[in-house]
Amino acid sequence: MAKDSLGNSPVARGTFLAYPEEIDPDKYVIALYYVEPNENTTLEEAGREIASEESIGTWTEIKTLRETVLKYAAKVYKIKRVDGSGLIYVAFPLDLIDFEGGISHLLSIVAGNLFGLSSLRNVRLLDLQLPKDYVKNYRGPKFGIKGVRELVSTIREPRPHLGTIVKPKVGLNPKETAEVAYEAAIGGVDFIKDDETLTNQKFNPIEDRVSYVMEKLDLVREETDRRVIYAVNITSDYGELFENAERALSHGANALMVDVIVVGFPALRALAEDPSIKVPIHVHRCMHAAMTRNPKHGVHMMVIAKLVRLAGGDQLHTGTAVGKMEKPGAQAQVYKEWGGVKSVRRINDFLRSEWYELKPVMPVASGGIHPAIVPSNLEALGSPDIQINAGGGIHGHPWGTRAGAKAMVQAIEAYLKGIPLEEYAKEKPELREALKYWGYKFLNQK
Ligand code: 3PG
Ligand code: 3PG
Ligand code: MG
Repeated sequence: MAKDSLGNSPVARGTFLAYPEEIDPDKYVIALYYVEPNENTTLEEAGREIASEESIGTWTEIKTLRETVLKYAAKVYKIKRVDGSGLIYVAFPLDLIDFEGGISHLLSIVAGNLFGLSSLRNVRLLDLQLPKDYVKNYRGPKFGIKGVRELVSTIREPRPHLGTIVKPKVGLNPKETAEVAYEAAIGGVDFIKDDETLTNQKFNPIEDRVSYVMEKLDLVREETDRRVIYAVNITSDYGELFENAERALSHGANALMVDVIVVGFPALRALAEDPSIKVPIHVHRCMHAAMTRNPKHGVHMMVIAKLVRLAGGDQLHTGTAVGKMEKPGAQAQVYKEWGGVKSVRRINDFLRSEWYELKPVMPVASGGIHPAIVPSNLEALGSPDIQINAGGGIHGHPWGTRAGAKAMVQAIEAYLKGIPLEEYAKEKPELREALKYWGYKFLNQK
């Protein structure tokens, strides 16, 4: 009997196995898993268990399996082994997938029960390859990189955008928030956002906050001729999410923000596809590390980035090269290319690149950024299509928010001109002060 591509005899097991040449990438969703089977399971068995559990099989042979059902079987078609673990490619036929069911249905298959299978010690969904016929069911971002650039007039001379997060992250009232926003905008930021935990609390309700902040940003426009974006965090359960969007938009908000993991991809998609929402959506990802941090188990940020692009986020946090947060998967001993800064860069490059008809998404680096580490971040993460956010790195400047924003602008300028920061700082007092105050904090932190 002929051996299959994995060197196994097919028999019944062939239901969930295929030769690589049998898999036409236009007709399948392809999922790539890192798999560490338990001691009684081979890698091939592990792959077959995933393919079976997530398509037409279960733990035993069943009497209800009809010939007509076989075409819905997922197929393991490639395995790369390293010691006891490996990378397994599983192809899910498009007919298995409910296109109308969107991202929730897709996830129930490619990221469903498999994470709990007792035969697998660890399993991590690293990537999804989605064919055109699947992706064309989604509208993706309304604005994308170009649309956001149009709003802040950086189309003709593209440069990295500078964003800030109003700090303290919660506790200020609407007027105080607006004052901080004004100072940051006058100092030179292009973008201001709420922090991920500020939504519509009593001490800072959305209506008042948006009214005051937009009033101040109108003033900045009169004074400097610059339009600054303010992304209002509307994160909440589904009904309230749309109420918050309405509250923000009816008071003049020019962008919205959601924490995508906690609201869910379908909620982001519903917002982005709502024709009455005519502003960009900034996507924060708090809680992602529960899935993305462990290099052996969970879901890679690349997958989240693809789903956010399908769902219609215009800007997405993808991490820093140097900053306060650990690079998810940085500790990976196996498949190093899926961990650390290189993988953040790969995600950013995906977001910036062509992907069928869907607009590119602006990657956002945030978390512990201050002027001294701006060049390293831009160099490693790619420029100019990136937004660099700083909260503490602006509002913690010894001379205050306005000077903090200026120092960040100067750090970006220095990088773009190819001038070392210390040299540029000789003529730029705000940058000089920031370098003196924070030094190169986080730079050599692994
Ligand atoms: C923050 O909220 O402090 C960070 O931006 C979170 O990190 P992330 O941008 O890497 O998700
Ligand atoms: C964010 O939500 O992106 C942040 O809160 C970043 O804040 P930081 O620059 O003070 O870390
Ligand atoms: Mg934050």
